[in-house]
Amino acid sequence: MINKIEDSVILKHDAQVPRYTSYPTAPHFNSDVNGEVVFTWLKTLPENETLSLYIHIPFCNQLCWYCGCYTKVTSRYAPVEDYAHIVAREIRLVADLLDKKHHKVSHIHFGGGSPTILLPDTFDYLMQTIRSEFEVNVDAEIAIEVDPRNVNEEKIATYAKNGINRVSIGVQDFNDEVQKAINREQSFDVVYDCVKLFRKYKINDINLDLIYGLPKQTPEGIRKNIDYAMLLKPSRIALFAYAHVQWMKKHMRLINEEDLPDGASRLQMYRLASEKLQQEGYFPIGLDHFAKKDDSMFLAFKDEKLKRNFQGYSTDTASSVIGFGASAISYLPLGYSQNTLDFDEYKKNILSEKLAVKKGIKITQDDKIRKRIIDELMCYLEVDLNQICESFNLEKNHFATELEGLEELKKDGLVRVKNNVIKINLIAPQISRIVSSLFDKFFISDSKKHSKIA
Ligand SMILES: C[S@@+](CC[C@H](N)C(=O)[O-])C[C@H]1O[C@@H](n2cnc3c(N)ncnc32)[C@H](O)[C@@H]1O
Ligand code: SF4
Repeated sequence: MINKIEDSVILKHDAQVPRYTSYPTAPHFNSDVNGEVVFTWLKTLPENETLSLYIHIPFCNQLCWYCGCYTKVTSRYAPVEDYAHIVAREIRLVADLLDKKHHKVSHIHFGGGSPTILLPDTFDYLMQTIRSEFEVNVDAEIAIEVDPRNVNEEKIATYAKNGINRVSIGVQDFNDEVQKAINREQSFDVVYDCVKLFRKYKINDINLDLIYGLPKQTPEGIRKNIDYAMLLKPSRIALFAYAHVQWMKKHMRLINEEDLPDGASRLQMYRLASEKLQQEGYFPIGLDHFAKKDDSMFLAFKDEKLKRNFQGYSTDTASSVIGFGASAISYLPLGYSQNTLDFDEYKKNILSEKLAVKKGIKITQDDKIRKRIIDELMCYLEVDLNQICESFNLEKNHFATELEGLEELKKDGLVRVKNNVIKINLIAPQISRIVSSLFDKFFISDSKKHSKIA
């Protein structure tokens, strides 16, 4: 359903709610889940469980002021190399804990920070460690987040040799003024050369990350960003809403708040970009993704196999994710766990052959049900509660209270509910976060925790 709605109506519902990259969300992780608990979770992981591996590299050469990721700036390589060797030890430690080594792996994701900061030898070493401890499927997706300012031909050749087949390139904005205002200066040529090199090495599944809502951005600038992006012919685009969480990330205070576009301009930018991308043959997926019809994300969407996880949207088929590195999050059948953010503590634990888990949350049956509802809302912008109630053996009116909470959104035409099926108006996919929060048992409105939706 696409009905025209005034921006003021959408803005009336603007609120600070989670982005639901997990359920329960990370602020509700607690210290009841520690290394000992996760030790048993890993020990009891079924032998035939296919895994997805996430490797976090929390280093960058320079700090972008808008950055919401967990990372650290370094001008020296020694701490990065040292860290990568600890990660390799963690990979071996976890593989040893899994009762039967050589679990199958369907997906590997190098995220950060900037994993492209790793020199070829270090990257090689990490991939060799993974391959010696796990059985990586021949058709596994092996992805890396790329800072185009720190790749070169030697690194890209190493990625190709190690089976990398998908890259997400951080662009954000092509305009000089915007780039200055966010402390991330990178010319179009830098991105162009980077894309060209990946193609030379037959790495053709290319995603570009763009952000709207950055300081000094204008609707006209967004239009130009899409024009520039089109010259690079990516198979997928992530168009993230800038999350200005300056109470949590102190460096965001370096951004002049007067330069930030207001809610109405942000909506206009999103709509403009979305319409233009659709005219260019990109299909809108969930909150912020756009994919060509031959891209695996569109195919996963069509086959109803799309997932929501800490990387945003994922085509990953594995049901368990193991995260390696400081701050990395794992998702196992019994719950979520997160490693410590403290480098020294991380290193000390791994060197003494202990898991570096700091917190997490055990998943109850109710969490599983609500996760399924929230995942469907975030991925498909609709959910059929009849199907959910049937699969989990619940009364048909089990979610009556949650449905009552939708009244205002229904009146304003942002949501339609018919026979227990909720559909979000495609004009404002951001509303999926609000609807999800109504199904979130843990959610308490807290302006110090989340970004606004618009
Ligand atoms: C780990 S970075 C990508 C790789 C590399 N570090 C880079 O920036 O090129 C992940 C992506 O998150 C997005 N991002 C970071 N901070 C954000 C924020 N505060 N709001 C919205 N998106 C953000 C950016 O689009 C960025 O490319
Ligand atoms: S956006 Fe990327 S390059 Fe910039 S600081 Fe964050 S992780 Fe590093």
